[in-house]
This record gives sequence, structure tokens and C-alpha cells, in this order.
Amino acid sequence: MPITPLDERGHRWAVTTPASTYVIGVEIDAVTGEATPLQKYWGPRLSVEAARQAATASGGPATPAGARRHVSSFSTPVEVEELLPVDGGRRWGSPSLQVSFDHARSLELRLVHTRVLDEEPGAERLDVVMRDAHHPFEGVLSIRARDDTDVIERWTTVRHLPTGAARPVTIGITRLDSGSWFVPDASAYRYSGVFGAWAEEFQLQRGPLPVGETVFTSRQGITSHIANPWIMIDAGEAVEEHGEVWGLNLAWSGSWRLTTTHRPEGGVSVSAGFGHDGLRWTLGPGTELVTPPVLGLYTGGGFGAASRSWHEYARRHVMPAPDEERPVLYNSWEATEFDVTEAGQLELARRAASMGVELFVVDDGWFGDRDDDTRSLGDWWPHRKRFPDGLRALMDGIHELGMRAGLWVEPEMVNADSELYRAHPDWILRMEHRRRDEKRHQLVLNFARDDVRDWAVGWLDELVTELGLDYLKWDMNRPFTQAGWPERGAAQDRLWIDFTRNVYDAMSRLRRAHPGLRIESCSGGGGRVDLGILRHTDEFWPSDNTDALDRQTIQHGFSQVYPPGTMSAWVTDSPNISTGRAIPLRYRFHVAMAGALGIGGDLSTWSAAELSEAAELIEQYKAVRRVVQHGRLHRLAGPPGQARSAVQYVLGDDVVVLVYNPIGNAKRGPRWLRLAGLDPEASYEVVRGGDAAESAPGRLVQGSRWYGSALMGVGIRPAAWEPVGADYRSDLVALRKIGP
Ligand code: GLA
Repeated sequence: MPITPLDERGHRWAVTTPASTYVIGVEIDAVTGEATPLQKYWGPRLSVEAARQAATASGGPATPAGARRHVSSFSTPVEVEELLPVDGGRRWGSPSLQVSFDHARSLELRLVHTRVLDEEPGAERLDVVMRDAHHPFEGVLSIRARDDTDVIERWTTVRHLPTGAARPVTIGITRLDSGSWFVPDASAYRYSGVFGAWAEEFQLQRGPLPVGETVFTSRQGITSHIANPWIMIDAGEAVEEHGEVWGLNLAWSGSWRLTTTHRPEGGVSVSAGFGHDGLRWTLGPGTELVTPPVLGLYTGGGFGAASRSWHEYARRHVMPAPDEERPVLYNSWEATEFDVTEAGQLELARRAASMGVELFVVDDGWFGDRDDDTRSLGDWWPHRKRFPDGLRALMDGIHELGMRAGLWVEPEMVNADSELYRAHPDWILRMEHRRRDEKRHQLVLNFARDDVRDWAVGWLDELVTELGLDYLKWDMNRPFTQAGWPERGAAQDRLWIDFTRNVYDAMSRLRRAHPGLRIESCSGGGGRVDLGILRHTDEFWPSDNTDALDRQTIQHGFSQVYPPGTMSAWVTDSPNISTGRAIPLRYRFHVAMAGALGIGGDLSTWSAAELSEAAELIEQYKAVRRVVQHGRLHRLAGPPGQARSAVQYVLGDDVVVLVYNPIGNAKRGPRWLRLAGLDPEASYEVVRGGDAAESAPGRLVQGSRWYGSALMGVGIRPAAWEPVGADYRSDLVALRKIGP
């Protein structure tokens, strides 16, 4: 089993995953009795005997006698190696746990016990239970490991133990991270993460990790477009298919903070948790607060292997319906914006259905008096002028065309110009004597309130039931401002936690009531993409930018952690409505085929030739989508969207490769594309050779057979990569393993 004791006292443990080991030990100070849980090792898998050596060999607060490394009254703090460095004692770093008792701070924790719990089959959990030396405060550090993933889950629980005292102490919490992780000594430290903005999400950034403390955060109440709550660290040597990588990922969809501490003499810690600086949570007697999980992953196989492990973990342990194939979707937003009518939508639906679309989603504009973005959020009944008889006829029409039906909703929002706001002005996030700042003319409902959540679940449930909806696109179009809850007084910062939890809860209640319902997570594009919301949703809308070239960069960043099957990707019109860039239909399709394919263009303007080319490409996609959505992803060749690149997927015996060349006549760059992740000994037959008619060395002629070793060693020579011809050439190639 994954968690093995390394000593008799239960102070040292080895946490073993298929390819990694994580060794921890609780050090007890002989003089003060203080308990300090430390990370002793995190890296390639060790035998139990080797883990025992790691547990005793590594550093920790007790510097081995004679080592005398920089010993002075300013001695270098060791808290970067702690699993949960507290604000207390001789620590000066960024705390993972900061607690105040009335007017005192500084935690002094004692070990109560450690215990291992059997959970679901294949999973074990270790709890390290500690209490403050004086105050009725308990902190539990939990670690879960599973036998089918290298991802280790950690979280923290804090409790105000009931004492029956007439005047209980006030326990205030200003920092409560899920856990801190230590990346061991290396010659250098480099971080990778994704950063961006609206319409420019998931820009992969990789660079040296500065010495000192670096903070990545969202203070917006949502995950944000600015940064995504994960980081990968390597020694500057990892590449796509090789090298050691340590990754951390916070499964949370509200505000968050991830702090890296790079000690000048080496060693890096990453502490991650919900909430942002300045928030304060009070813990009443008998209550507890549990953090979301922070996930840690070690791999020796480069960034590609890290991504594949995250994808596999998400499919096995996060996604609600991982075995399904995502249907080909149509969304009306770019085609009609707010001009949603029954006739117009049905006309689009007929065209979509004839192309092979399987799910038709009506976007914003179907409710209240919603003719633009200034009004009606909150008034979730069919637009009276446009749908005087309701939406049933439209939804039935979509179903009769053989498609599933979906609707756009934005349950956490309200426009000041709405019946809801006029009836419940107190339902929004607000602070006494402060303005109510609008963004996109909207205010944020206080979803932390149970009555607001119940109201949303009520109308959503009715809508889904009455219209027979199969799908909701759940949007969230602005960050929090004046985020208060006056009725809660000093305890109002809890809304930053309870808001997100109630969003999760609303989604899971809807899913329980409607087991066939699928949900897309959208927040003005990719503002709420994370492993927290993925527990309750099926697809992400990564960006409002649907330009295929920009999307390649966005998809590259997105795919670092999130599985291709969750990545909704639409083919829209050319020139693109936001960038004005013209790109051939085929290239737009091949980019969108790298995820869950959708169509988002104005089909009423597509020519007969375009519609039939689209239908053919949709059919091709359906033939390979299981491999794309569920397969092991390999990102190959140059920077996507800028040079010749490819994405390859392997599922069982099937291999699919999407090849791109945005700059047709570039003389530089590879001509041969070396595949990855194949069985070198096996033969592969070309099932779809791409569109190159002529036979040339390396061209994949349909029916030809190649050894895996040749495909990986020599490579293939895609016609689309030849440095002659037009810009935006692309291709789809499929192979199948046929045995040795
Ligand atoms: C957000 C979404 C878009 C669209 C609009 C509708 O911006 O990201 O896809 O749904 O809202 O108002």
C-alpha cells in the first residue's frame, strides 16, 4: 500500500506512488516538545529500505553535530523543508499557517498522534494531528496517495476545540495553506506556469525562479485569467520528453495564493492555499475549516510526462464523467450575439445538424429583456418579446434534429437593471458606506448565502427539467469588488470560501438531480479553469479568443495540466471576429480538433462548399476523437502557432497526429517529425495518411507499415511541413499498431 511507516513511533513515513516516493518525518524538539513535520525526500521511487535511509540522512532543524553550517543567531531558517511552516517560534519565512489567539500569535504545536486510514480501494491517507501547547487549537495535516497515480494530495484541517469556557478564546486565521512542498537541492531552479489576460489566457512562461519569495495569486474571487494555480519546477534542464519536474497544483476556483521561497543557498518551497493576503477567518468553538487539496507530482519524464500524469489523474480522480466522448458542439454566441430568436437559432441548428453537430448551445440573449449586456442578468425566464411562448419549441426543435440541447447561464450575477436586483438589492456582495462598482454593467450576487444558492438551484433545476436541457454553459463574467457581507460583521471574509463552495454545491446538486446533465465552466473565457471546478464540470471554455493561431498558443498552455477532452475548441468565422485574421477552414478545424471540437461560426454565411468540407472534417474528427480526448498527449516540434509543430495522441493501439505549419515558406525549422510514445518493436499501419498524394521518403501513404522505432527515430515527413506553398497548412494522420 502507498503509505508505509519507517519507524515504530509513527514519526516517519514513506509515501510511495508508482514512480515516486515522498518521505516525511515529524521532528520533536527535545527541549520545547514542539512538533515539526518535515519533508525528508521527494523524488524517484525508493525501496522502503532506501526511504528509511532518506528519512535519517536528510537535514532538518537538528543540524548534524559538527556540520556547523552558517550557525549564528541569524541561522538560515529551515522552514522551507517543513510541510506546514507556521507563524511561530524561530521562523521568519512565509507561513503556511498563521493563527492568532485573542491578541497573541505564534503557534506552538505538539504532536497528538499520526494515523493511517484506508480510504477507497487503492488509496491511503496519513493524518498528522497536532495541537497548540496552550490554546484549544488543533491542526491536522493530511496526505493521500493512490496506487494508480504519482499525484499526491495534501490538505489541512484546523479546529477550535470546544472547551466549555465561558469566554472562549477568539481564533483568527490569516493564512491557511493546503500544504507546503520542498523541491530538493538542485544546481538551478526554473519555474513554469501559465499567465495571461482575457482573450490571451494560458501563455506558458518558463524562467529562473528568483531567490527570495515570489507570489502567484488571484484576488478576484475566481481562479482568474491572470495566473492559473499551478507551478512546475525543474533544474533548468527538463525538456518535453526528458528530465525531472516537480509540479504543484491547487484544486480551487476562488482566490488563491501560491508562494515560492527560493533559499539563497538552495532549496525551494512552494506553499499553496485558498484566499489571498489580508483576509481573516474566525474559527468559533467547535468549528473547523478544511482546505481544498494541493496536489504534488514528481516525474522524471519531462514536461510531457508531467502533463500526461495530470491528465490521467484528472480523468481517474477528478472528472465526473471521464469515460464519455465529448459531443461535437455548436454555440451561437459569435454568430448572433444577443440577437437570439427561435427562427434564427433553428436555422443555425438545421445547418449544424446537417454538418454532424451533436449538441446545440444557445448562448446569451434568451432571457429577461436581454438585448445587450446592460440588463436582465437575474431574470432567468424566456425573453418575453422573442420567446412569447417560451423556449420549449426551440429546444424541442433542436432535439428533433437529433442533437442535444444546451443553454448559457450566469447564475452568480445580476444587472442593476433587473427585476431580481429591484427585489433583492441586499443579495449582492457589498460593503457598508462603499460604492457598488459594476463591471460589464453587472454586480456579483453573494453566492456564499445559502438562500442565494438555493434560489439559483431552484430556477436552474426548473429550467433543466422544463426544457429537457442536456447542457449548461455556466459563465461568470467579472471579478469581485466591495466583497462584503455586512450581516456577517467580523466573520464576513468567509464569503471568499463559501462562495466557491456554494458554486460547487449548486453544480453537484443539479448533477444529482439530472444525472445526464453536462456543464461547461466558462468565466469570460478561461477565468475559471482549475481542478476544483473540474470535479463538477465536463468542459472548459479556455478563451473568448477563437483565432486559430492564437488558440494554438493558448491550447499549448492549457494542455500543460488539463486534459484535451476538457478543452472546448470552436471553429469560427474567417476573418476572425476579434483578431481580423483570415485562416483557411481546414487549419481552423485541425486546431480545434486538438480538443473537444465545436463550431461557433455564423453558419448562415458559410458557402455550400464550406459546409460540406466542414461536415467531412467533423466526420474525420469523430473517427479519432476518442484517441484525442482520452489519449496520452505528446507535444512535438516547435512553438505552436509560431513554427512547425504537432500534437500526437496515443490510446491503446491508436495514434493520431495533428500537424501544423502556419508559415508556409519558412526555410528554417524541422522537415522530419519524430513521433513519441510508441512501442519501438511494434509495426504501425497508416490508417489515414494525410492529404499528400505523392509518395516521398517519410510520407505516410495509407496502408504502409512502419516500425515504431523508425517513426520515433527517423520520423515522418509531413507534406504540410515542406517549405513551399501557402501559409496555414495542416494535416491529420492516424496510425494503428498491428503487432510486432
Ligand atoms: C462571456 C463568454 C462568451 C459569451 C459571453 C456572453 O464573455 O466567455 O463565450 O458566452 O459571455 O455574454
